Amino acid sequence: MIVTTAQLFKHAYGKYAVGAYNINNAEQAMGLFKGAIQSQAPFIIQISKGARKYTDKRMLEAVIRAAAEIFPDAIFAVHLDHGDEETCYDCINSGFYSSVMIDASHDPFDENVAITKRVTDAAHAKGISVEAELGMLGGVEEDIKVEEGNACLTDPAEAEKFVKLTGCDSLACAIGTSHGAFKFKGKQSLHFDVLQKIKSRLPGFPLVMHGSSSVPKDEVDRINAAGGQIAGSMGVDPNEYLPAAKLGVTKVNIDTDGRLVWTRVHREFFRDKPGDFDFRPPGKIFIEEYAKFIAGRNVLLGSANQL
Ligand code: G3H
Ligand code: 13P
Ligand code: ZN
Repeated sequence: MIVTTAQLFKHAYGKYAVGAYNINNAEQAMGLFKGAIQSQAPFIIQISKGARKYTDKRMLEAVIRAAAEIFPDAIFAVHLDHGDEETCYDCINSGFYSSVMIDASHDPFDENVAITKRVTDAAHAKGISVEAELGMLGGVEEDIKVEEGNACLTDPAEAEKFVKLTGCDSLACAIGTSHGAFKFKGKQSLHFDVLQKIKSRLPGFPLVMHGSSSVPKDEVDRINAAGGQIAGSMGVDPNEYLPAAKLGVTKVNIDTDGRLVWTRVHREFFRDKPGDFDFRPPGKIFIEEYAKFIAGRNVLLGSANQL
C-alpha cells in the first residue's frame, strides 16, 4: 500500500531510518519489494530524473503499481529523487508521488529558498510533502559532478533559517557523504558533530542522508574478480546508520549498492557461462540477491520488523 512519506517519518523519527532505494526497472522493484517483505520493513521507492527517462516514467509507475498488487502487505512511499522545479511540478500533478525532492542546493542560499518555497507551496496544496537540500555533497549526480574540494557541509544555523523560510518537510544535509562508489577521500566517518548541531536547531524535524551506500568491499572484489576494474572505492560504514537515525536522520538514500549487486551477479554469471545470452537466469538471481541485500540493510537501518 502506498502511504505518505509524512506517515513513515512520523513513525520512524528518532528511532530508526527508513531506507530510500532507487529503482529503474522491474527487476529492481521485485527485489526491493521481496526484501522489504522478508524484513517486514516500510520503505521509500525513489525515482530519479534519469530513471524517469531510462524507459519511460509511465513504465516505472506501472511497475510500481503492479508490485504493490503482487506484494499487498508492502508499506511504502513513492518519492522523486533530486528533482528540478519542472520535474517536481510534473510529479506533484501526476497524483502518483507521495513526496518530491527539490534539489536547488547548487544555487545560492536565497535562490535555493525561493525555488524550494515555490515547490513547497504547490506540493502542500496537493497534500504532498517536500524534501529540500542545503549544503553540497561531493560526487556524481545525473548531470552534475561536484569535486570533493567544492563539497560543503550543511551549516546548522542556515539549516534552521532555511526550513523556517521554505516550509519544507524534510531536509537533506551534507554531513560528509557523497554520491557514488568513491566516498571519503579522508577518514571514513559521518560528521556526527554537525548532525548533532543541526538536530538541536531543528528538533523533531526529519533529516535525510544522501550518498549512503556502503559500497561493500566483498561486492567490489567479486566484481573485479569477474572482469571489473573498480579501484579506490569506499562507502559509508553501515553501522553508522542507526546512530545517525537517533540524531534525526529519518531517510537514508541507497542507490549505488544496488547497482553493485546487479553488476556482480551479471559479471559472474556471464563469466561462468560465456556461451549464454538469455538474460532471465541472471535476472532471477539478481532479484533474489537484491532482496537479500535490502533485507540486510533494513536490519541495519532499524526499519526491519517495523510493519
Ligand atoms: O543521487 C543520485 C542517485 O543515485 C540517482 O542516480 O540520476 O543516475 O539515476 P541517477
Ligand atoms: P549512493 O550513491 O551512495 O547510493 O546515494 C544515493 C542517493 O543519495 C540517491 O539520492
Ligand atoms: Zn542523492
